[in-house]
Amino acid sequence: MPSTTAPSTAVPSTNSPSTATSSSQATIETFKKYVIPNYNRYPVCLVRGEGSYVWDAEGRRYLDLFPGWGCNILGYAPQRVVEAVQDQVTRLIHVPNTWYTHEQGAFAEAICRRSFGQAFFCNSGAEALEGAIKLARLWGSSQGKYKIITFDSSFHGRTYAAVTATAQPKYHEGIGPLVPGFSYARYGDLNSVRNLVDKETCAILIEPIQGEGGINIPADGFLAGLRKIADDEGLLLVFDEVQTCMGRTGTWFGYQQWNVPPDILTMAKGIAGGVACGAVIARTEIAAYLKPGKHASTFGGNPLAMAAGLATIETIEKDHLLDNVAAMSGRFREHFARLKTELPIIRDLRIRGMMIGIDLTINGTPAVGKCMERGVLINCTHDTVIRLLPALNITPAQVDEGAAVISQVLREMTAG
Ligand SMILES: Cc1ncc(COP(=O)(O)O)c(C=O)c1O
Repeated sequence: MPSTTAPSTAVPSTNSPSTATSSSQATIETFKKYVIPNYNRYPVCLVRGEGSYVWDAEGRRYLDLFPGWGCNILGYAPQRVVEAVQDQVTRLIHVPNTWYTHEQGAFAEAICRRSFGQAFFCNSGAEALEGAIKLARLWGSSQGKYKIITFDSSFHGRTYAAVTATAQPKYHEGIGPLVPGFSYARYGDLNSVRNLVDKETCAILIEPIQGEGGINIPADGFLAGLRKIADDEGLLLVFDEVQTCMGRTGTWFGYQQWNVPPDILTMAKGIAGGVACGAVIARTEIAAYLKPGKHASTFGGNPLAMAAGLATIETIEKDHLLDNVAAMSGRFREHFARLKTELPIIRDLRIRGMMIGIDLTINGTPAVGKCMERGVLINCTHDTVIRLLPALNITPAQVDEGAAVISQVLREMTAG
């Protein structure tokens, strides 16, 4: 029998000031009771941030070289984004897509003028992938085409089509059956793509630089080769730029690094300076297949996210952050290239803009905890790759500070 007991009057107020001032441990206890434990979390509760620094509930400061898993592309509390959200929130928070808003039109114009085509807005990376996959199939359906080729070590998100597109068996375990129609080519191998194309194939889907897969940067000519296969075979080329968009690589979009334009592109993560947002960009003649009723997202394109996105673009432009990305990327490279000559455990260094991978011959996971103990936050992916996605506005002093700690930790790990 379900309980009919009235709720206790002792339910804590959600806006109680004590919530914000609780210790990390008190918050961890609350999570244990009420939050589904589907994430491995560090035993720290973060309470505020500024630029590349973030503070925990005990007042400890960390230099974050992986802020918001790439979402905080301008670091924490970027001033123009904060002000834009504060201003917008007093006028319109949410408006359904049955209406027009200035903000959605302006942000669509801002990103399409820096890329191409037309935009559809949603709220996350996986949602953007779902939209792109549906659009590719809508385009292909009149020709009986629905199959999509993706690549090993890719990562496209956790919803069903996105996780099926993600060619890593560990993400498929226990959740089958998956979405039909996906096949997996070898990253970097054009022949493996050609071998998978048949008359039912509608698209090739790839991250221009694989992020979660270990900062895998394509050899020159690979993306152009995919473009050629797509053109020769009558397929769409879809770039997942969830991680590489918004100046992350030093150009507005990753594809501009190689000057290979896709037909459809997905965005999320840093698109709105840390506010939840995603987008699909499509060439106008392909976008036309997304007719009313074919796809939608209730919160997609809400004025709050759009205002944050506009402020993000304004900040990148006015603060010349694409130039800063080039300069700070070079600075990181100098530090780590020197370290690579010193430490044989560094197998490979893969850097493009503010995407940095240090591939080790040993398990890199312990480096995350050791750096955190010294006040620097990093990530390790695929066991051996130290991954950094620093904010575009990181300073030279912060690059030096972070590189010094990582170098010290890797030296210690080399020594065993
Ligand atoms: C390239 C890429 N695509 C899609 C996703 C999924 O994004 P989200 O977690 O916002 O659904 C990610 C997330 O890491 C990603 O890196």
